[in-house]
Amino acid sequence: MPEGWEWDETLFLGSAPYYARGRPPYAPGLADRLAGALALDGHGRLIDVGCGPGIVTLLLAHLFDEAVGVDPDPGMLVEAGRRAAEAGIENTRWVRARGEDLPAGLGTFRVATFAQSFHWMDQNRVAAIVLDMLEPGGALVHVSDAKDGRAAPDDALPLPGPPYTAIGALVRRYLGDARRAGQGVLRHGTPGGEAAVLSGAGYLGPERLRVPAGGVLPRSADDVVAWVYSLSGSAPHLFGDRRDAFEADLRRLLAGATPSGQFAERPPDTEVFVWRVPPP
Ligand SMILES: C[S@@+](CC[C@H](N)C(=O)[O-])C[C@H]1O[C@@H](n2cnc3c(N)ncnc32)[C@H](O)[C@@H]1O
Repeated sequence: MPEGWEWDETLFLGSAPYYARGRPPYAPGLADRLAGALALDGHGRLIDVGCGPGIVTLLLAHLFDEAVGVDPDPGMLVEAGRRAAEAGIENTRWVRARGEDLPAGLGTFRVATFAQSFHWMDQNRVAAIVLDMLEPGGALVHVSDAKDGRAAPDDALPLPGPPYTAIGALVRRYLGDARRAGQGVLRHGTPGGEAAVLSGAGYLGPERLRVPAGGVLPRSADDVVAWVYSLSGSAPHLFGDRRDAFEADLRRLLAGATPSGQFAERPPDTEVFVWRVPPP
């Protein structure tokens, strides 16, 4: 849990409808790489903790008998269910809970994924709970955008990249300099250090997989607005009754940054750490 900050239910309030559209996609080879590394054969169960709108859950569901997405944000679970139905994926189940509430009677699993969610949890507690929920031979998989993040601005791209620095400045103009998160502020960011937590909890590894990003990602102004609202630090609820004014300013900023109304960028690689359950 980030130091000096208390979790509350508004962390991603209002972000869900924007999330899947706004966030850059995980690397297209992610499911195949994990299937190979974990010898997944369509059997066993997946639990995706902090599943959000089910992006990773749905990407991996075909590799298991059942995929269970767990998230405390009801809007995220509505989106996850909607996206599963839209994709015709039927072996999923969505459960409203924090990682700290597990095992929540959910049974045992072959694989537990945490995709850009573990840093919001009481990591020591959740690591220990999930170790008990994993079957022998199972694995905890930590998924994130590669730490070196977005590729640098690239003259070879056909269109300008989204003006991230100016967007950040606009968000700060509305929300203040301190990084907001739910009802609090994050003075020291969110914690890394999951390697120490997971090895301390008894997991073995990690095996690191870096999965290369797909090609150039075209981004409309609506996509970039969705990205802004998908972030806990600029989630819709934070703007209160100034939200319309913020969005009008944001759209003006975006219109001024590209004559065509379109942007392009290179999405980040996806970084995966596989942590194995120790033999009994
Ligand atoms: C950055 S989003 C990642 C969503 C999804 N895993 C993905 O990669 O697309 C973080 C998610 O973690 C969830 N979350 C926050 N605190 C949590 C907690 N204590 N336990 C479980 N999930 C949590 C949020 O509601 C949000 O949906």
